[in-house]
Amino acid sequence: MPHRDRYLFICTNRRELGHPKGSCAGSGSEPLVEALKSALAKQGTAKRVRACASACLDLCEIGAAIVQEPDHVAYGAVTLEDVDEIAAAVSEGRIVERLVVYRGRRS
Ligand code: FES
Repeated sequence: MPHRDRYLFICTNRRELGHPKGSCAGSGSEPLVEALKSALAKQGTAKRVRACASACLDLCEIGAAIVQEPDHVAYGAVTLEDVDEIAAAVSEGRIVERLVVYRGRRS
């Protein structure tokens, strides 16, 4: 089974409009999946880093949310303008500090 050095899990969960928790799809997360896949492919790192659509990561209020593993950090309020910076950072084993909304014990 191929295993990547790093993974980006992009929440694409969608809730009905007006739901108090909001949702990442409602905050524009769906286009982030293909944009990140494309950015990783363009820089030649798609074999080492994988971008995956995810179900709810329980970070709904700060969506669009992305979790980067194994660094165990969560990014919030991600937009298409952040994609190139995230792709470059993850490929170099770095974190985009300005987007971090949660940091686990491993980072
Ligand atoms: S809807 Fe994206 S984290 Fe819950």
